[in-house]
Amino acid sequence: MGFLNEIEPLKQTALAELLAAPDLAALEQTKGAWIGTNGKFTALMKQLGTLSKEEKPAAGKLINAAKLELEAALAARREELELKAALPKEPTDFTLPGRCRALGKLHPLTQVTDDIVRAFRKIGFAVADGPEIEDEYHCFDALNTPADHPARDSQDTFYLNTTDKRLLRTHTSSVQIRVMEKQAPPVRIIVPGRVYRRDNADATHNPTFHQIEGLYVDKNVTVGDLKGTVEFVFRELMGSDVKIRFRPHYFSYTEPSYEIDFTNALVKKMGKDWLEIAGCGMVHPQVFETVGYDAKEWTGWAFGFGIERIAMLRYGINDIRLFYENDVRFLKQF
Ligand code: DAH
Repeated sequence: MGFLNEIEPLKQTALAELLAAPDLAALEQTKGAWIGTNGKFTALMKQLGTLSKEEKPAAGKLINAAKLELEAALAARREELELKAALPKEPTDFTLPGRCRALGKLHPLTQVTDDIVRAFRKIGFAVADGPEIEDEYHCFDALNTPADHPARDSQDTFYLNTTDKRLLRTHTSSVQIRVMEKQAPPVRIIVPGRVYRRDNADATHNPTFHQIEGLYVDKNVTVGDLKGTVEFVFRELMGSDVKIRFRPHYFSYTEPSYEIDFTNALVKKMGKDWLEIAGCGMVHPQVFETVGYDAKEWTGWAFGFGIERIAMLRYGINDIRLFYENDVRFLKQF
């Protein structure tokens, strides 16, 4: 019986063509050619009406099953081709860094720290690191800060309950000593890190905060080098309208010592002429002697400043506690 025998081979050809369609456009064409309004398979179905009463049920059943099979094959191939179309044409290098973070952002303090590090790297400084739990020697003694110095007062320092009098470092200056103990001059380092003091938390103080320490040791280093470096870095961070000024001060590990004041349009907007931003000076010869550097041969400068201070200025933030509360409404803005 001609009609029934036609169904199976037609179906097989249609299936083969659907599966062979190389892309979505070709697949749509194949679909039209077989099961579209003027398709070959559709034509076969239209012939059902010409069959006799006895032939019709079996033929109808067969043709419907075949049609379902073709539609399923069409859907499966379509899915396959869509997936293929979505894949990149070039081979993918999965070791490349992502174009953006999949989730979250860097904390504003991390962003500012990264920018400071980047500025110093441009002029040849390397990043050094040291322990947050320090001994008195590296935090104070070696920095020419004797045992009766007020900076060692237990009122503003966290001591650990240990017999060897360890403490949470009060400044990153301790890393100056650790680096010089290990390394012969010249030295050119910065030290970003967390420090601890027994401060009450208010809008401008927190018991933990972050500092960047800098140390430069070489032959014939001058205050001019120090001032030029600080100016360069602050202009990189805060724009070319930055001005800085040095005021005489006292630190036991530098001589002479200065406080650095800073100004730019932002500071003026806050209704101030200058903002105190950092401490610095020429490394005290006693510090060099302590770490075994020849103070007649080597000279150097050091500085330290607070990262929160810089970030507050930069973003116009007036409460330091916002950095630690991790309220997403705050963090989202950076
Ligand atoms: N350690 C000082 C502080 O915590 C900052 C400082 C001042 C660092 C002078 C220095 C320096 O290296 O030379 O306030």
